Amino acid sequence: MKFFIDTANLAQIKEANELGILDGVTTNPSLMAKEGIKGEEAVMNHYKTICELVDGDISAEVVSTEFNAMVEEGKKLAAIHPNIVVKVPMIKDGIKAIKWFSDNGIRTNCTLVFSAGQAILAAKAGATYLSPFIGRIDDSNWDGIELISQISHIYSVQGYKTEILAASIRNALHIVRCAEAGADVCTCPLDSILGLLKHPLTDIGLAKFLEDAKKFA
Ligand code: G3P
Repeated sequence: MKFFIDTANLAQIKEANELGILDGVTTNPSLMAKEGIKGEEAVMNHYKTICELVDGDISAEVVSTEFNAMVEEGKKLAAIHPNIVVKVPMIKDGIKAIKWFSDNGIRTNCTLVFSAGQAILAAKAGATYLSPFIGRIDDSNWDGIELISQISHIYSVQGYKTEILAASIRNALHIVRCAEAGADVCTCPLDSILGLLKHPLTDIGLAKFLEDAKKFA
């Protein structure tokens, strides 16, 4: 399973990248707004900076909702860097746009996915990645991980090439369960990635080893 970081924060992207395990970055309009980025030029420059920091796929989301506008916006985003993946919402015009991008050699990430039916449509349209929102599904009292398993089964039975990119990750256990359920990629906040490191027995064991090491230093 590939690891992406789900943020537009440059310091967090750098920290995750320095771990040596980062395969890419996903952003969305809320994450960009959180960093105080304003205006088309600033947005484009921010994506460019992220592409220069990380050698991997970088998702940049369109904010248009009409087919022609999505295509124009997506073309501009894709022109920033070869690693840009155009993120498109799961709506009717979004599916048309994904098909257009796929026919024209532009890679896509279909976002705001909450059902297996949506996953089938996105794959049929030729989406490169599919982003089911695990945490938001759990928040609404359904099972996000169960959806990953269901989509993974459908894609494997049908031979769809679209990669399942589990998003809206809230903790380290989500990452482990996504790996178990067959996600191809997990995009996570930095805290959830670092959460994978934690085990009290590791800390206790290391403290003891360091204490004993003093005996033969
Ligand atoms: O980028 C999409 C996604 O990961 C959103 O996460 O935490 O806002 O549900 P969240």
